[in-house]
Amino acid sequence: MKAFRVLVIFIFVLMAVNPQETKAAILHEKTRKLINQANQNGPYLGLVIPNLFEMNPLLESSNFEPRDLTIDFQGRRFRFGTIGEKQVILVMTGLGMLNSGVTTQLLLSLFDIEGVVHYGIAGNANPSLNIGDVTIPRYWSHLALWNWQRYGDGPDDELALEVNGDYTREIGYIKFANFSSNVTNCDAHDNLLNNVWYQPEEVFPIDGTPEERQHAFWVPVDDHYFKISEKLESLKLEGCINSTTCLSTTPKVATVLRGASASIYLDNAAYRNFIYEKFKVSPVEMESAAVALICLQQRIPFIIFRALSDLAGGGSAESNEAATFTSLAAMNSVTVVVEFIKHLSANPIQVA
Ligand SMILES: *[C@@H]1O[C@H](CO)[C@@H](O)[C@H](O)[C@H]1NC(C)=O
Ligand SMILES: *[C@@H]1O[C@H](CO)[C@@H](O)[C@H](O)[C@H]1NC(C)=O
Ligand SMILES: *[C@@H]1O[C@H](CO)[C@@H](O)[C@H](O)[C@H]1NC(C)=O
Repeated sequence: MKAFRVLVIFIFVLMAVNPQETKAAILHEKTRKLINQANQNGPYLGLVIPNLFEMNPLLESSNFEPRDLTIDFQGRRFRFGTIGEKQVILVMTGLGMLNSGVTTQLLLSLFDIEGVVHYGIAGNANPSLNIGDVTIPRYWSHLALWNWQRYGDGPDDELALEVNGDYTREIGYIKFANFSSNVTNCDAHDNLLNNVWYQPEEVFPIDGTPEERQHAFWVPVDDHYFKISEKLESLKLEGCINSTTCLSTTPKVATVLRGASASIYLDNAAYRNFIYEKFKVSPVEMESAAVALICLQQRIPFIIFRALSDLAGGGSAESNEAATFTSLAAMNSVTVVVEFIKHLSANPIQVA
């Protein structure tokens, strides 16, 4: 008994001399309370946004009414407000697939979320679209989960670990030798980088069995959200950054077949053309597929709007257009998001 009491006192002393830990516990408790209170007022539409220059136009928009509530959690800031009649939570992810996946999962794990809207800017791989256009793809994929085939093997050779079902040759590959330049007077040439085979993601949906993988390559956006989005195609978008600098075409909202993501900044015309020819992707960027893959696994409806700000390497050789039209593209994506949310309020989800 005495020993027990000594142990208890010892633990109290330990806690007292470890203010770091105690502070963390109090912070955690306070945050938990805020989250619980927020969730009593839910559900919310979650707005997942890559960077500040894409979030700021929304924060500054008269259509966004901020509530006096933000919750910081594990390096992310969740901002509360309303757009039209919808209660929304805004959260910025930061660059790339890891950030966008983690942030989306945090949003869905912490809060009562009815659906996710992701928006931002993108490169364009589709020659029939232009800078300033806002694309709404039906499907998204992560295009950088690869099996890089050993030199000497070809399409008829099994990939490493293919036999276990870890990898597949079903989706297709890129052959580096096809991209050699300035090779004249020979009809066949080779490249030690050989072939890269595109792979689907392993996913673990909430209604599946934990640790039992499923696969996903093209992830569809929500049907109902997509139908609503089709009504936005007549929306008027901004075509000028100021009184003298305008786009050469009138920007438009376009539903398209596919978009693609990877943690790779694409500024290369050959690869841009290849993925357009092979996969029919229009917007090319660095976050959306991770948002899509998380929403797929959590069974949360989602939609993605990406405004084209550059040609992913398909423009002039000297300049990437992103610098000039980034702000215009970001603004146009915000215009579409706001309009979508207004339409969504007017057309709540029909239970099938
Ligand atoms: C490589 O180029 C050839 C000739 O243009 C084409 O037929 C083939 O489909 C290409 N292979 C890949 C994997 O892109
Ligand atoms: C390769 O060919 C292109 C176009 O024909 C030319 O502009 C470029 O200078 C060549 N590069 C080299 C390294 O010879
Ligand atoms: C409009 O924007 C362009 C590109 O940023 C700039 O070069 C030009 O000076 C601006 N013109 C005016 C009138 O502000």
